This record gives sequence, C-alpha cells and structure tokens, in this order.
Amino acid sequence: MRKLDTIAEMKSVCRGATREGKTLGFVPTMGALHEGHLSLVRTSRVQCDVTAVSIFVNPLQFGPSEDLEKYPRTLQRDAATLEEMGVDFLFAPSVAEMYPPGAQTHVDVSELSGKLDGASRPGHFRGVATVVCKLFEIVRPHRAYFGQKDAAQVAVLRKMVRDLGIDVEMVVCPIVREADGLAMSSRNVYLSPAERKQALVLSRSLQQVKAAFKGGESDGQRLAEIGKQTIASEPAAKLDYFAVVDPHTLDPVDKASRGTLVAVAAWIGTTRLIDNLLL
Ligand code: PAJ
Repeated sequence: MRKLDTIAEMKSVCRGATREGKTLGFVPTMGALHEGHLSLVRTSRVQCDVTAVSIFVNPLQFGPSEDLEKYPRTLQRDAATLEEMGVDFLFAPSVAEMYPPGAQTHVDVSELSGKLDGASRPGHFRGVATVVCKLFEIVRPHRAYFGQKDAAQVAVLRKMVRDLGIDVEMVVCPIVREADGLAMSSRNVYLSPAERKQALVLSRSLQQVKAAFKGGESDGQRLAEIGKQTIASEPAAKLDYFAVVDPHTLDPVDKASRGTLVAVAAWIGTTRLIDNLLL
C-alpha cells in the first residue's frame, strides 16, 4: 500500500492506475475505521482493480459546538488494517493541504442540504459536498463507495454528482450493525456502557415502524409517530428527528411504500447517533 499525504502525489498515483487501464474504486472516510468502513473497502476490492481510501477528518463539516477536536483519530492502526486488506493507495492529507489559506470555494447542494441532519447541523452537508467534490477531482475514481448508514449524505452526494456531471458511479452499501442491532459508528466509542444499551432504542424504533408497515400501516405521519413514541419510551434518549421520507428528495411522504426511507437521529447523553432503514 502506498500512503500519500499531498494532493499532487495522490493525483499522480491515481492517474497512473487509470492510464494503465485499471478500474479505480474510492472509499472516502474520516478514519477510526470499523466494520462499516471495511465493508465498503471489501466491496471496492471485489469490484475494482485498484482501491484508494482517504482518511481526513474534515473540519468544514463540523459545527462550532461539535466534536471536531475529540473525534477519534487512529491513523496508524487504520493504515495497518487497510494495508492488510490489500488497499492500494491511502490518502491522508493535512487540513492545510486540503484547504490552503484563503480557500473560499464551496459546493452547496442548496435544498437537500437543509433537510434531516442538515436541519440540525447547519453547514454540515456543505462541508461534506465540498470535501467529497475535491476528493473526487483528486482521485477521479470510476466508482465511489458510501454507506447507507448516512442516508441523507447519500442523497446530497448523488444530487451533487448529477448536478455537476461528475463521472463517477456511486455505490451505496448496506448498514453494518453490531450483533444487538446498533449501527456501527466511529462515535459509538463515546458511549458509556449504560448509554451503549440505551442507544439500542434507535434500531428498535426503526424495527417497530417496519413491523407496523408490514402490518398494513402506510400513513407516513402515523408511522413517524410510532417511531417517535418508541424513542420517547427511553428516557435517556432525546429525539432530533424521526422521518418517513422519499430517499431522494428527503421530503416526508403521505403514503409509505417499498423503498421509503425511515430515518432517526437522537442524542444519547452528549452523543448524537443516527440510523435508518429502507422499507
Ligand atoms: P465516515 O463517518 O468516516 O464514514 C465513511 C463512510 O463509511 C460513509 O460512506 C459512511 O456512510 C460509511 N459508514 C459508516 N458507518 C457505517 C456502517 N455502520 N455501515 C455501513 N457504512 C458505514 O461519512 C463520512 O465519514 C464523511 O462525511 C465523508 C464522506 C468521508 C466526507 O468527509
């Protein structure tokens, strides 16, 4: 595995691979890798000749009161894991490398960026779209791998790719969960053992909505109400949103159907967690 920390070097190795006629898969991450991230890497390894991974904790997507400083950073261990998995290129730039002083260009997927997580995290998706657009230009991958875990991020980035005519195939991989149902997340390390149990209310709320849908309930508002009530049954959880929406527009649906997105965000103590499923 080659580890690159400048844009120029990363461009050079990626262009080299594509010039040789290889298909290039790309997995952007913020590191602190867990099985969720690794499932994306494995899929890229199966589908592409060459796999590139980026690890960059992107300050642009963190709000002023968010966890940028304490976000887990485990670069050495991550690099060893990726090397063992057969990743070809690891791009781990510094903040100064990605955002030269005075940079003032942003990518703003204006409407979608204000929905779901974007509503409670102003500027978050602008930061995500800007960094992913920049990474796409550095790597110019044939395919890019994202997790369904971040459903709103997927909607925003798909729209960005369509609107800007970026030549990349977006591949979305299923949510990887712990054995008890908790969606894997780099932020799960913040949870105390008690909170770790309380956090199960997120996946439980989604399962309840799914069961109600299977039982014949299709009214979007009533399904969301069922989810909200489940979250309310756990006193330690504070709901941010519970939404039954179209997965592309992120707008609430009157009638849920196959493929409707059910998404939840809640605080367990000081940790904000998200989870979702597609009906
Ligand atoms: P990060 O949170 O590190 O996630 C990197 C990728 O892993 C994302 O596509 C995310 O959806 C996926 N992922 C995380 N947990 C997962 C799980 N349990 N199952 C499946 N996939 C999972 O998302 C980001 O970083 C950043 O916003 C980024 C796109 C890198 C831009 O900075």
